[in-house]
Amino acid sequence: MRFLITAGPTREPIDPVRYLSNRSSGKMGYAIAEAAIEAGHEVVLISGPVDINRPRGAAVIPISTSDEIFAAVHEHVPSCDVLVMCAAVADYKPVAVFTKKIKKRDAKLLLELIPTRDVLASLPKARKYLVVGFAAETDNIQTNAQKKLLKKNCDVIVANDARFGMESDENEVEIFFRGGENKKITRASKKIVARELVKIFANVCEKRLTKKIGR
Ligand code: CTP
Repeated sequence: MRFLITAGPTREPIDPVRYLSNRSSGKMGYAIAEAAIEAGHEVVLISGPVDINRPRGAAVIPISTSDEIFAAVHEHVPSCDVLVMCAAVADYKPVAVFTKKIKKRDAKLLLELIPTRDVLASLPKARKYLVVGFAAETDNIQTNAQKKLLKKNCDVIVANDARFGMESDENEVEIFFRGGENKKITRASKKIVARELVKIFANVCEKRLTKKIGR
């Protein structure tokens, strides 16, 4: 199967030396890429700026901003079987990027932000590939994740507690499926969690394909 995986944060420039970003380390997405390669799948990894070695055997596409990840996903998604949107894409970006460094002054500085484009929500409803979203939550994890699954038109959503998963080498996730079922993977290294996730994604994808062929 062909996996398209996104990982890491985005950086939204403010001026030539500053940006807005988040604490995503990229570890979960990279672990999923490695687990998918290990299981014999083809992997294209769209990666934000992270401090991790490239997984051997993956085609890596480096991106920095939310606009770049948006374009890269749209370019590569038509030729994948499973899209795993693990990247922590910024929700807002500055209205305008200053061309020169903002100089320090005594007065208050207001930065005006606009929403970025949502990659998941922009994907067509009629599609051949499986779409997996991630939901990093700090409260009401289940309810918020289920809402996101529907709102962003995902087939599967993987929810985790943002307070524990980010930057850590371990994770604990709950997976929600379109049909209403759910499955929990208890706390383990991201490597182990990634292997489980790849198995689950490949299974759901396989089932969908068999269903379509059988029709
Ligand atoms: N996502 C996306 N495009 C964006 C922002 C997020 O495709 N511009 C994807 C992420 O890659 C992830 C999913 O949407 O798979 C959920 O991301 P998350 O940050 O949990 O949710 P948000 O939509 O940002 O909602 P909120 O911050 O309100 O929880």
